[in-house]
Amino acid sequence: MTSLPVYLAYAKINLYLEVLNKRRDGYHNLETIFQSVSLGDRLEFFPQPEKITLECDNEDLAGDASNLVVRAAQLLQTRFGVSQGVHIRLSKRIPIAAGLAGGSADAAATLVALNQLWDLKLTLYRLTTLGLELGSDVPFCLVGGTKAGRLRGQDLHAMHSPVAVWYLLVHPNLHVSTRDVFTSPLLRPSGEIPFAGWTCSFRKARRRLEDGDFAGAMFNRLEYVVFSKHPELASIKERLLRAGSIAAGMSGSGPTMFGVFRSREEAEKAAHMFSDINTSVVCPTLVGVNCLEG
Ligand code: C5P
Repeated sequence: MTSLPVYLAYAKINLYLEVLNKRRDGYHNLETIFQSVSLGDRLEFFPQPEKITLECDNEDLAGDASNLVVRAAQLLQTRFGVSQGVHIRLSKRIPIAAGLAGGSADAAATLVALNQLWDLKLTLYRLTTLGLELGSDVPFCLVGGTKAGRLRGQDLHAMHSPVAVWYLLVHPNLHVSTRDVFTSPLLRPSGEIPFAGWTCSFRKARRRLEDGDFAGAMFNRLEYVVFSKHPELASIKERLLRAGSIAAGMSGSGPTMFGVFRSREEAEKAAHMFSDINTSVVCPTLVGVNCLEG
């Protein structure tokens, strides 16, 4: 079987995440700072007639239409009347349902790859609109890097990358449902009104981050909700700070926690203090999807 190039789909963390208010469509308006990181799933695409099939090396992940990769392929196939199919091979490296947008990253890579394989000539704007139908993080995963996001997170704006740092990701073996976090009575949206696009709190955080002040900038409104149910995550945050991180927090709706370090060596040293939990040492990436080889 001939295949297309290999694609890497990178995970993201949220360096800042504020919930402004609940919308009429049930989602929430957010202000967030996304950062893509060098932990990526690997996807290969093999042309085949008609059918869409998925093979994955992680048996916890369904290969049927509940998988975002399959849904992304089906969306393109039905929306654009494509008669060809595809077999997709997915090597999972990003922990599942971890607040790292692993499923969204895979869906974004699938949109990019099939746009090429099926010669659809869709613009990034069009892919973004389609991506949002699959999940709020898919638009960011299409572009990656360091971005300010608002509305559901799909309205993305370029940011200066903060100073070079390394991240230690700590992956507790817990399941957190994003939907449950957003519908929890414990969630108290800030209610702050944006002025000329963004709130004052967000502008302050963004400025601090661009100046390298991670401790002053980092925030996640969802932490309170998730920590109330899983206090062990608050302990991990404490442990990350004690292990020498400049700042520590939760990514998205969790449960992945991360610490910010000045060097790879410091992040790796701190990882030894988490021998009881899975960890990854990663650095920022400039893109969300990377086409590796022809
Ligand atoms: O868009 P996605 O499928 O990732 O969202 C999962 C759930 O998270 C939604 O069903 C919704 O309850 C919640 N959510 C939200 N506001 C957002 C993003 C997600 O309420 N901006």
